[in-house]
Amino acid sequence: MPLLEIDELSAGYGSLPVLQGLSFGIEEGETAVLLGLNGAGKTTTVLCLTGLLKPWSGRITFDGTDVTGWDPRKLVSKGLVLVPEGRHVFPEFTVAQNLRMGAWPHRRDRARTKEITEVAVEYFPRLRERWTQLAGTLSGGEQQMLAIARGLMARPRILFIDESSLGLSPKLIKTVFEVVKQINTDGTTVLMVEQNAGAIAIADRALVMQMGTLVYEGSGGDILDHSEIREAYLGTPA
Ligand SMILES: Nc1ncnc2c1ncn2[C@@H]1O[C@H](COP(=O)(O)OP(=O)(O)O)[C@@H](O)[C@H]1O
Ligand SMILES: [Mg+2]
Repeated sequence: MPLLEIDELSAGYGSLPVLQGLSFGIEEGETAVLLGLNGAGKTTTVLCLTGLLKPWSGRITFDGTDVTGWDPRKLVSKGLVLVPEGRHVFPEFTVAQNLRMGAWPHRRDRARTKEITEVAVEYFPRLRERWTQLAGTLSGGEQQMLAIARGLMARPRILFIDESSLGLSPKLIKTVFEVVKQINTDGTTVLMVEQNAGAIAIADRALVMQMGTLVYEGSGGDILDHSEIREAYLGTPA
């Protein structure tokens, strides 16, 4: 049984349908990448999975529990954590304060929080150098590192990372992808949402969405071999 299972999910905004019977599963321990052109419904999917958008119908099962319609706090406590598109760090707070805010599910356990902070910062040593700096003064790459580290502070079992590569230099994208792979190797299941097909290289499995449904599912290698999939759904000659 997959760790996370999405079954016939539909959702949208107002009366606009976006997800239209979306189904897929994520296995415990894997890194999966959800690809698709702009507007395919990728962000809408991860918003539903983290309770920030209520699905219209369908079912979300996590670790054997039906979590459909749960509110975001309860889902974070259960281990479903989103690193949102656009980073959304708190610009007026320091790096240290931003990280502490990520630790609210277990905020009463100070020793634990300290321990998790150490782990999160080990992935991104740059954050230690910026410790007392306001998040709003960090570079785009550093803000992305902070956003991922803040996500780790909640001790995710599955981490959803929405468009982490957007606006970063190729060198920084490589760094971020490598750290994400390491986080996965260390035991966290990962679903990356990307328009950058470069993420396929670190993924065990690729899922491709178009107009709110899944149109392809396979190993990363398979997708790179299918030039018609690349061109139709990714829009990037990989
Ligand atoms: N807050 C919103 N209100 C209305 N429509 C939205 C909103 N957010 C996204 N949409 C629409 O939903 C569709 C899917 O968007 P999204 O899930 O963000 O796609 P992706 O992340 O794959 O680019 C798009 O047509 C987009 O315009
Ligand atoms: Mg998006």
